[in-house]
Parts: sequence; C-alpha cells; structure tokens
Amino acid sequence: MVRDVTGASPLGIIRRLFFKGYEKVMRIPPVRVLYPEPQIVHGFKMMKVLPSILGLVALLFAASSFAAGDADAGATKVAVCAACHGQEGVSASALYPNLAGQSENYLYKQLQDIKSGDRAVLEMTGMLAASSDQDLEDIAAYYASLEHAVMGSQKIADEAYALSEEDFLALGEKVFRGGNLQTGVAACTGCHAPSGMGNDPAAYPVIAGQHTDYIVKQLKNFQNNLRTNDGEGRLMRGVASPMSDLEIRAVANYLSGLH
Ligand code: HEC
Ligand code: HEC
Repeated sequence: MVRDVTGASPLGIIRRLFFKGYEKVMRIPPVRVLYPEPQIVHGFKMMKVLPSILGLVALLFAASSFAAGDADAGATKVAVCAACHGQEGVSASALYPNLAGQSENYLYKQLQDIKSGDRAVLEMTGMLAASSDQDLEDIAAYYASLEHAVMGSQKIADEAYALSEEDFLALGEKVFRGGNLQTGVAACTGCHAPSGMGNDPAAYPVIAGQHTDYIVKQLKNFQNNLRTNDGEGRLMRGVASPMSDLEIRAVANYLSGLH
C-alpha cells in the first residue's frame, strides 16, 4: 500500500514536521545510512550509533510510505491501457512509453500526477478520473511486475555532426556515465543507477531499454518546461536544461539498448 506522506493524517503531519516533505525523505538512501562506513576512530561512540538510529527511523518511515499494491487486482484494471501501452506493458509505438518492469513507486507517482493534471498527457484525458488511490496502487504494482523489455540502440551515424555510428553510441554512454562537466549536465547514473534501472524507493524511473523517441521527448519536455512534475527540486529540468540536442539524441539512443 502506498500512502501520501504529505497527507493530513497525524502521521503525515509528523512526517512533514520531521522531513519537510516527501522528496527529502525519499532522497535519504536507506542502505547507505544503515550501513555506515566502518569507523576507525574510537571514542565518539554516539557518532557511530547515531547514523544507524537515523537510518532505522528513515527506513521505518519509508517502509510505511511505500509498500506494494495488488498486481493481480491491477491486471483487471488495465484493459483500456493496452491499446497504447501494449498487452504486456510493452508498446508497439515509441510515442507510448513501455511500462513493463518500471519502478512501482515511480508508476504510482506518475499515475497520480497524470490524474491530477500535474503531468499533462492529453491522450489519457479523463481515463483515470474514476480510479481510486487503491486502483492506482494496483495498476502500478501490475506493470512493475511485468517483464522489462529492451528496445535496442540503433546503429546510426550523426551526419549533422559528422559522428560515426561508434562515436554516436560512445557519446551517449559518455553523457550517461559522466554527464558534461563543461556545460553542467549531471551524470544520469547518479540517480538512475549505472544499470539505468532507476531507484524504486526514491521513485527514480527505469530508463534503460525505453523507446528512444519517448526518451528524447521527455528530455525536451523537461528542458522546455513542458513537463514540470519533477518536484520542487526540479531534478530533471536541472539536468536537461544545459543538454545539447546532440547529447539528448545520443544518450536516448544509448539508453534504448542498455541492459
Ligand atoms: C490513447 C493512448 C493511451 C492510453 C489508452 C493510455 N495511455 Fe498512458 N500514456 C500515453 C502517452 C502518449 C504517454 C506519454 C506522454 C508523454 O509523452 O509525456 C503515457 C504515459 C503514461 C505513463 C507514464 C509513464 C512514464 O514512463 O512516465 C503511465 C504510468 C501511463 N501512461 C499509464 C497508463 C494507464 C494505467 C492507462 C490505462 C488506464 C493508460 N496509460 C492509457 C498514452 C496512453
Ligand atoms: C538528480 C537526480 C537525477 C539525475 C542526475 C538524472 N535524473 Fe532523470 N529523473 C530523475 C527523476 C526524479 C525523474 C522522475 C521525475 C518525475 O517524478 O516525474 C527522472 C525522470 C527521467 C526521465 C523520464 C522517464 C519516463 O519514463 O518518463 C528520463 C527520460 C530521464 N530522467 C533521463 C535522464 C537522463 C538521460 C539523465 C542524464 C543526462 C538523467 N535523467 C539524470 C532524476 C534524475
């Protein structure tokens, strides 16, 4: 079950007081906090214990905020979705994102955002209007449970920039793993993981294997403020705004084949 941590329940208010919102809670990586580096300094015992206690508290909050919907129930609620997103959550057209194997928490957040209009998806207008939170949790659990697909990178040279196939792919990998220090593009791996499989507790999406054109469109939408549901931290708008057109196309092509 996924609960809105910013809700007005007593627990929600306590969380808000302590954590000032959902994003900050989720940005605490529980594993790193729970297993601090072995300390060589003796003496300050509390310094050793404190991170573990904080880690446990963070984990308790995280665990109560995010738990599974019912995938079997979800399977009965997606008949209308298959037309665009495919029977198994893998879409035939690059206009429609693959949902299979996507992060459950990310899916749930997107469904809420699309329903509320925070993320405008014209093609889905009204489709979620009658869905309860439980429905959205179940749908997210269902698509997350399906097998993730890898679309594959295209072997394409970039004529405009006189890049060979190899150089175009290499540029994509360079952007993904290292970003662009000169222009301030952050490495994608920092949040989406070196595998491109994202970070489910933090609701960072899987981007490996996704349709190239869909990735290009999202990066441009973030860049041009057409997609603004990346929170007050503007994480993706910050990443995408300094990206060049070439970098966007190269990283998207690289990601489609990453597995
Ligand atoms: C008529 C086509 C269409 C139908 C039917 C449709 N969608 Fe979508 N959906 C889209 C498009 C187009 C996008 C991406 C829009 C964009 O480019 O930002 C999208 C995006 C999404 C996303 C965000 C995925 C991501 O990676 O961010 C989710 C989740 C989603 N749809 C779920 C559903 C569910 C659940 C249903 C059924 C209740 C459904 N869609 C029905 C067209 C459709
Ligand atoms: C600071 C963390 C961070 C970094 C670095 C980052 N991302 Fe993201 N990315 C996010 C978050 C968070 C979201 C989801 C935003 C939301 O909730 O809609 C996201 C969403 C996306 C999406 C949309 C996925 C979908 O299914 O619609 C794409 C594509 C993407 N990122 C690509 C990239 C690429 C390419 C890079 C590197 C150039 C990158 N990201 C770097 C945090 C990050």
